[in-house]
Amino acid sequence: MATKVYVTGASRGLGKAVSEKFLQEGYTVIGIGRSSDIHHKNYTFQTCDLSLTSDVKNIQFDAESEEIILINNAGQIGNIQRISDQQTPDFEEVLRVNTLAPMYLSWSCLHHSTGAVKIANISSGAATRAIPCWAAYCASKAALDRFSETLQLEEKEKGKDVRIWSVAPGVIDTAMQEKIRAASPAHFSSLDTFLDLKKNDELTSPQVAADKLFRLIVHAEINRVVCSLREIE
Ligand SMILES: NC(=O)c1ccc[n+]([C@@H]2O[C@H](COP(=O)([O-])OP(=O)(O)OC[C@H]3O[C@@H](n4cnc5c(N)ncnc54)[C@H](OP(=O)(O)O)[C@@H]3O)[C@@H](O)[C@H]2O)c1
Repeated sequence: MATKVYVTGASRGLGKAVSEKFLQEGYTVIGIGRSSDIHHKNYTFQTCDLSLTSDVKNIQFDAESEEIILINNAGQIGNIQRISDQQTPDFEEVLRVNTLAPMYLSWSCLHHSTGAVKIANISSGAATRAIPCWAAYCASKAALDRFSETLQLEEKEKGKDVRIWSVAPGVIDTAMQEKIRAASPAHFSSLDTFLDLKKNDELTSPQVAADKLFRLIVHAEINRVVCSLREIE
């Protein structure tokens, strides 16, 4: 298959599940991140700490590929605490991983590729809704949404075969949710909501989310840039 699929944060959670889905469907997948334990003949891995812009700039895309799919999935929730209460804010790390890395990788991919390009930036409901104690995360995902919309308009102006989404995946049963549920009630006002989602078995499995993400990207099931996997049945 002449398509190459690049996935950041393939070590676990949604990134691992979507990498495995594309592999099952016969695609060539390149994981990008700090570690990976996927073993498959069509899988390779590029080591990269996405909080280091120097590492991110070293990521190479196969410019000759007929089609490149880039899934900017890696993300960090950051400190779960009101900004004014934080002893050591982690703004840089959150914004580097969640926003700057997708921006540089999108640039590199679009700048060098000669074929079709699809980019799925994994956003969040927190991009469009202020959630106290997640300020940096909300800001990082809101910026990702606006960046994605602007990029799509730019590529349309150029008449390029490029599709961009900034997609909220829903609430998925991953390590990120474990970290959210482990937050202190004193520091996270929405804690009960997330404890209840888990207790009531309302979290989506990474595999279900990955199947929907696959359909979104391969079958272009949604036309808008900013969207949600909840829109896919
Ligand atoms: N889970 C949810 O309910 C939910 C809801 C809305 C949006 N999202 C978004 O969905 C995406 C996937 O989240 P998830 O739930 O699958 O999270 P997860 O289980 O915590 O996985 C996060 C992934 O990001 C990678 N990562 C984090 N920092 C990195 C860094 N500096 N360099 C390289 N890789 C890094 C992790 O790699 P390491 O193993 O190296 O740490 C891991 O592979 C994120 O963008 C998240 O914001 C998730």
